[in-house]
Amino acid sequence: MTREVAPKDAVAISARLHVSPHPLVREKLTRLRDERTPPTEFRHLVNQIATLVLYEATADLALTDSEIRTPLAAYRGAKLKETVGLVPVLRAGIGMVEAALDLVPEAQVWHIGLFRDERTLRPIEYYNKLPSEATAQVCLVLDPMLATGGSATATVDVLKRWGAKRIPEGVATLSSAHPDVPIHIAALDDHLNEKGYIVPGLGDAGDRQFGT
Ligand code: PRP
Ligand code: URA
Repeated sequence: MTREVAPKDAVAISARLHVSPHPLVREKLTRLRDERTPPTEFRHLVNQIATLVLYEATADLALTDSEIRTPLAAYRGAKLKETVGLVPVLRAGIGMVEAALDLVPEAQVWHIGLFRDERTLRPIEYYNKLPSEATAQVCLVLDPMLATGGSATATVDVLKRWGAKRIPEGVATLSSAHPDVPIHIAALDDHLNEKGYIVPGLGDAGDRQFGT
């Protein structure tokens, strides 16, 4: 029986690694892992877990004043200060975009295409249409899986070269390559198998979402 790593162990990896303590995340993640879960339910669960983890990951977004009127009085409220960029890593990150846009509807979406070479497990970039100048100050990298960390590290490399100032994400490789980048995840799993798959994990997140 394989297991998740206790949340306290996450601190030993990086103070910037946040494993969600939410009971709903743990319950939904168990259904996501279940090999009997079909693609329709799998997609729904990815969306719901993304909402819960993104709620935690966006807790430090900066605000600025926003003056409005209610039907009764003037009111000084708040709006987001910085432009948010959502960066789904193709393919599996697509399943987190809707949840992120529901929370931050004005966010820009910039897709990055990466796949892992099955032999070397190194990420190969195949899609990147970022304009030359950064147009988002805070980038949220969206990917349901972080195994060797190669794909996430490559994505953060691209975003830092682009000029994004802050990149909160969702482990050891990533945090040592980019110690300044917060990582928000639903769970920290036991180990990678000889093919680089997360154990217990949930299999191939792209295949399970898209029925391939
Ligand atoms: C999966 C996943 C991550 C990557 C994680 O994508 O969505 O992007 O693997 O592995 P790593 O941390 O070892 O780099 P995959 O390469 O299977 O591509 P796909 O989503 O197109 O199937
Ligand atoms: N990518 C996946 O989709 N699953 C894993 O376990 C590892 C990488």
